[in-house]
Amino acid sequence: MKIAFVGKGGSGKTTLSSLFIRHLAATGAPVVAVDADINQHLGCALGLDEAAAAALPAMGDRLPLIKDYLRGDNPRIASTETMIKTTPPGEGSRLLRVREDNPVYDACARPVELDGGAVRLMVTGAFTDADLGVACYHSKTGAVELCLNHLVDGPDEYVVVDMTAGSDSFASGMFTRFDITYLVAEPTRRGVSVYRQYKEYARDYDITLKVVGNKVLGQDDLDFLRAEVGDDLLVTVGQSDWVRALEKGRPPRFDLLEEANRDALHTLRTTADATYEHRDWERYTRQMVHFHLKNARSWGNERTGADLAAQVDPGFLLSERVAATA
Ligand SMILES: Nc1ncnc2c1ncn2[C@@H]1O[C@H](COP(=O)(O)OP(=O)(O)O)[C@@H](O)[C@H]1O
Ligand SMILES: [Mg+2]
Repeated sequence: MKIAFVGKGGSGKTTLSSLFIRHLAATGAPVVAVDADINQHLGCALGLDEAAAAALPAMGDRLPLIKDYLRGDNPRIASTETMIKTTPPGEGSRLLRVREDNPVYDACARPVELDGGAVRLMVTGAFTDADLGVACYHSKTGAVELCLNHLVDGPDEYVVVDMTAGSDSFASGMFTRFDITYLVAEPTRRGVSVYRQYKEYARDYDITLKVVGNKVLGQDDLDFLRAEVGDDLLVTVGQSDWVRALEKGRPPRFDLLEEANRDALHTLRTTADATYEHRDWERYTRQMVHFHLKNARSWGNERTGADLAAQVDPGFLLSERVAATA
């Protein structure tokens, strides 16, 4: 299951992603956690100290390795230089699975021990101004998008991405890569304005989008969110003393998280799990091709000097079946 947390900076994306990851890990579920937020804080939110977080390998620095592995012997992709962030897999490409070991995880993922089990953590690396452009060749999130486009995941295994709701993810198609997108919103006008923008993009691509209200303190906050986002409001989280204690460097055991917040995490999981029956690999593949052609036309062809439309393998359908026979 691929799950994104998006929202305005400071809304609580990283906090809620990290709590959700802890919740999954506590049940023994396999998890790949990905930090694609502009402010790279997921490692710390998962309990790493500053030094350990700073030592995490950046996916953005390992793009050539990622591309080289995923390309495999796909004859439509002549070289890693012509492989852009949207280049879709085809026959001969290597696919990724949540539970396996592979060279991409070896290079980019590090285990993080949590109560209940370890998760794999991957981070894009710190963003620079150049990463925030609409059509960026070396975009940091491009490494994540490539991995998601080559990932074959089943139920009961999770990829959780902490991500910025920026224009980069809309231009590239990253926002279409998830079974469900949780938009974290504080009960403020700015909090819900990001929701409106996201909803707009989401509508055209059949995105499953739910709002998670954060720092919701009372009935007035709840009424505000209800009025602004209607049925898209899935659940709300209040001010958490558990989170405050973590921020003070005194992380309590995870099972001491407030009961209401534990219930909220449970809802996030059951809601994500329930999307599995609507998963549509055909649409998933079609959308990656759509965004690849769009990026090829707008900058990729010119940048690489190749006709990147030729990378599309018309007979290829990403799915759990393909992975089983690969
Ligand atoms: N439910 C909560 N209870 C207590 N503190 C919270 C809660 N949600 C977020 N915070 C705090 O608010 C700040 C911003 O949250 P963060 O998750 O870093 O936001 P984002 O990733 O969206 O920028 C952090 O200091 C975080 O600890
Ligand atoms: Mg963050």
